[in-house]
Amino acid sequence: MWKILSFFSYSIAILCLSSLIKHSDSVVEAVDATAYYSPAPRLNHATGLIGDKAYFFGGKFSQETYYNDLFYLDLSVNFNQSSPPFVDLKDIPDIPALQSSAYTLGVDNSTLYLFGGWEETSTITESKKVYVIDIKQANSTWTVYDNDTAAYKNDVWPSPRYSTSTKIDGNGLMYLWGGMFWSADGNPPNDTTMYIFNTNTKKWTISLPANAPLQRYDYATTLLSDGRIIYTGGELYGQNASAKMEEVLIYDTTKLQWSVKMTVSQTPGVPRSAHTAVLAQDGYNILIYGGSSDDIKFPLVMLNTNNFTWSYPTLIGNYGPKFLPRLHTATLYKNYMIIAFGQRNGNPSSEINILDISNLTTYNVATWVSSARLSSVDTNATTTNTTPTTDSPSPSPLTSNQSDSSNNQNVIIGGSIAGVVVVILIVGAAAFLFYQKRKKKSSIADDSQHEQLQHEQLHEVVLDTSNIDIESRHEHSSQVADIESRHEHSSQVVNI
Ligand SMILES: *[C@@H]1O[C@H](CO)[C@@H](O)[C@H](O)[C@H]1NC(C)=O
Ligand SMILES: *[C@@H]1O[C@H](CO)[C@@H](O)[C@H](O)[C@H]1NC(C)=O
Ligand SMILES: *[C@@H]1O[C@H](CO)[C@@H](O)[C@H](O)[C@H]1NC(C)=O
Ligand SMILES: *[C@@H]1O[C@H](CO)[C@@H](O)[C@H](O)[C@H]1NC(C)=O
Ligand SMILES: *[C@@H]1O[C@H](CO)[C@@H](O)[C@H](O)[C@H]1NC(C)=O
Ligand SMILES: *[C@@H]1O[C@H](CO)[C@@H](O)[C@H](O)[C@H]1NC(C)=O
Ligand SMILES: *[C@@H]1O[C@H](CO)[C@@H](O)[C@H](O)[C@H]1NC(C)=O
Ligand SMILES: *[C@@H]1O[C@H](CO)[C@@H](O)[C@H](O)[C@H]1NC(C)=O
Ligand SMILES: *[C@@H]1O[C@H](CO)[C@@H](O)[C@H](O)[C@H]1NC(C)=O
Ligand SMILES: *[C@@H]1O[C@H](CO)[C@@H](O)[C@H](O)[C@H]1NC(C)=O
Repeated sequence: MWKILSFFSYSIAILCLSSLIKHSDSVVEAVDATAYYSPAPRLNHATGLIGDKAYFFGGKFSQETYYNDLFYLDLSVNFNQSSPPFVDLKDIPDIPALQSSAYTLGVDNSTLYLFGGWEETSTITESKKVYVIDIKQANSTWTVYDNDTAAYKNDVWPSPRYSTSTKIDGNGLMYLWGGMFWSADGNPPNDTTMYIFNTNTKKWTISLPANAPLQRYDYATTLLSDGRIIYTGGELYGQNASAKMEEVLIYDTTKLQWSVKMTVSQTPGVPRSAHTAVLAQDGYNILIYGGSSDDIKFPLVMLNTNNFTWSYPTLIGNYGPKFLPRLHTATLYKNYMIIAFGQRNGNPSSEINILDISNLTTYNVATWVSSARLSSVDTNATTTNTTPTTDSPSPSPLTSNQSDSSNNQNVIIGGSIAGVVVVILIVGAAAFLFYQKRKKKSSIADDSQHEQLQHEQLHEVVLDTSNIDIESRHEHSSQVADIESRHEHSSQVVNI
């Protein structure tokens, strides 16, 4: 019971913290937001856009807490970043919780394909399963494809892996390359094979051209309309090094061939991994945002895939992330890039940020805004107090900074403090119940504050392999699920 209580106070601590950050807004939002789902903070989740719904699945909060919730962000209505219209698809039967899996939308614009990741069943292990759901079907359920079942027993199948990114081409072929592995025998495979999953037949085939590049993980992929998949950034597998951003990998799905393109303009600074890449509406510019590195000077960089030059849009507006996210997701919808969740300043986040990119090509400027104007007819479905009309001109990039900041300065802790406390307690209780419901297992470790993110640890373990012998690698791998040893290896303490 004391564990439950300590977790309860932990939830409250988080909520207090976030309510302090949000200042007085939380009073209003706690009431308004009840209509919508409030996803827990997370990283390493998956996302896919179907029509005007951005679907999200899973991810993790900590070493012990993985998620299996499937929900969407309703992009058909205007919304404010402080109360995003999330809808939980709780009627869909659950699958195991997964983090660091790859999510791809099928060509039918209706089916989502989830591959790999760390799967939480009785233990946490890497997955090679393909989970499929046709979201538009009545009473949608997940279907699982795995070669450990009789029907696929003798098929070609990729080994379990995580930190990949897949893409599905116009013929319904899903391309899987690279990723990260860990195997219990201390001998992780070095696999540069391109695995191709036919979403129609559910069969894998392989393509291994001679010039396959060195394996990467935590890279980002973008599919161009001509069938080329662009791989940017990431970590080099088994090397103590990140991939260079200026070394862009291209897999041509029409020729089944790799090529490497060195970008021509100045390099975008430090390498990055665990970033996101989305294709701009023009069909050739790739917007790359966030990622791992303390030295990223340009949070947003843009790669022109016509001439492989970089540009560095200026970010303005006061509603951007306080800390650069990584292991987040990005969704491009109309003239907005929506950044969701991720690890920010070492902590899992539930923050949503909205980047207005309508002036990107004209002025090389993108603006962090507090709300997305997506509906041509203002509805009362959103929790915005003011209902902005879509036709009214936005302030110029220069003044929008100021008007946003004046909004921000209005935050005064008003009203009854007791009221705030009551709301926090209620939300805390709800969050507690939520965690209990969502968690497959009840093992909330006593040390939830002293979390070492598994992902980080694995980076560390793998990067260290050149210095350790096979025996100690055995140790490392067996420690993956071992809370005790995690303490020893913990290099990061989350202080709430
Ligand atoms: C899926 O969406 C794309 C882009 O909106 C569209 O071109 C394509 O026709 C759609 N496919 C189907 C099967 O609806
Ligand atoms: C969906 O579920 C509802 C309620 O459980 C049931 O009445 C209906 O027949 C189901 N539809 C299909 C297509 O299975
Ligand atoms: C399934 O595929 C994996 C990876 O290729 C392989 O290691 C395993 O032996 C296969 N399982 C079966 C039952 O064939
Ligand atoms: C993986 O294999 C490639 C050749 O296919 C080799 O160049 C590379 O060094 C290998 N990496 C590791 C970590 O063994
Ligand atoms: C690349 O193309 C963009 C427009 O598409 C242009 O503005 C830029 O100058 C080009 N860069 C080079 C080096 O050609
Ligand atoms: C919004 O609510 C107001 C008052 O409740 C109502 O008069 C108005 O018609 C509603 N607007 C829409 C678009 O539903
Ligand atoms: C969004 O919500 C915040 C906080 O409640 C508020 O300051 C801001 O004005 C809202 N934005 C719009 C456009 O309604
Ligand atoms: C884009 O630029 C136009 C013209 O300067 C300006 O009116 C508008 O507010 C800008 N939009 C954003 C989101 O910065
Ligand atoms: C916008 O605000 C940021 C800091 O919030 C500041 O660095 C930047 O100079 C401002 N831009 C303009 C155009 O005022
Ligand atoms: C990895 O590289 C960093 C600097 O790039 C270095 O400090 C560290 O010692 C290296 N680790 C190993 C295991 O080689």
